[in-house]
Amino acid sequence: MNINEFLSDRSKLMKASEIRELLKWVTENVISFGGGMPDPSSFPAKEIMEVTKDVLTTKAEKALQYGTTGGVLELKEELTKFMDKVGIKVDGPENIIITVGSQEALDIVGRLFINPGDYVITESPTYLAALQAFRIYGPRIIGVPMDEYGIKVDVLEGVIKKVIEDGGKLKFIYVVPTGQNPTGITMSMERRKALLEIASRYDLLIIEDDPYGYIYFGDEEPPMRLKAMDSEGRVIYLSTFSKIAAPGLRLGWVAASDEVIKWFELAKQSIDLHTSTLNQYIAAELLRRGVIERNIPRIKEIYRTKRDLMLQALNEYMPEGVTWTKPSAGMFIWLTTPKKIDTGEMLGTAIKKYGVAYVPGKSFYPNEDRHNDMRLNFTYPTPQADF
Ligand SMILES: Cc1ncc(COP(=O)(O)O)c(C=O)c1O
Repeated sequence: MNINEFLSDRSKLMKASEIRELLKWVTENVISFGGGMPDPSSFPAKEIMEVTKDVLTTKAEKALQYGTTGGVLELKEELTKFMDKVGIKVDGPENIIITVGSQEALDIVGRLFINPGDYVITESPTYLAALQAFRIYGPRIIGVPMDEYGIKVDVLEGVIKKVIEDGGKLKFIYVVPTGQNPTGITMSMERRKALLEIASRYDLLIIEDDPYGYIYFGDEEPPMRLKAMDSEGRVIYLSTFSKIAAPGLRLGWVAASDEVIKWFELAKQSIDLHTSTLNQYIAAELLRRGVIERNIPRIKEIYRTKRDLMLQALNEYMPEGVTWTKPSAGMFIWLTTPKKIDTGEMLGTAIKKYGVAYVPGKSFYPNEDRHNDMRLNFTYPTPQADF
């Protein structure tokens, strides 16, 4: 049988993640800066074990049962308090939906808002798996370049005007404002204000993807969340337990207006009915007991130390002409080589000859043809090579 003859047009828009492909051929003899995983020593494993036992002892009948699509009420109440501490005010649980990681939320964003041919704006470069999630729905994605302060808002406005002039339908601007994946850049407060102002003027949605804000490890205070500054309900806020607890829980959440959350619930119903009830009760209890808040300073310390080590090594070993970002959040450093180097072509040699892996920068660009960057993950590798 030829399965290709059965596949939908949509399936043909799906592409394997280069990163996941890469991870497959990295063996234990390779130092990999290619993945995007947290440091396993940051997981509160013992506490999760205790909480799981308690949840199953006291509320197994609820925790092992089907649940509502929106999510477990206790968890949404805890998240309301958790977000309140960073200035995000929501009226109540009706403004939150619990998803299977932020990744599911990104897919739902695509389902809800993108018609084939619609325009979507992202930072350039941007989170690869967001591009993959959106592309399934056939949008035209325009990447707006960044500098050390985040998305270039003057370029952004030019792009918006052009799309409107050409009669295009522009839906949303997707940003990762803090510790961006892949660059590690944190958008400045000025840019945040300008971005909100532009979105308001042109009546656009903003998708704020914030996996890293809670573990910001810079010396100064992190800039405010866009959602905390949003007086018009145009920011759809995505976050996750993957970086503040453990990605294996597969728990994320979305905060938005109750109307938007209803649409998310409708979309999620047909995808998976609801997120794991057991994991939601565990997360609610981790928040209620303060496990997550107590663990956050420890995560920040681990990542600050590892970032410093990588920055120090780059300073020591990188030749002239190579530049890199100095992140205060997130898990990645973005490194740019002179233009004559193609980091995609170099990867084979890096792995085979030098036993080092990274992710070539090319696939993070929605539409620019750039081949001389790479993404380096500093959170997963150990400070010492184990061989
Ligand atoms: C910017 C960004 N968004 C979303 C995700 C997805 O995270 P999860 O599905 O584990 O919540 C990640 C994971 O690395 C990320 O970096």
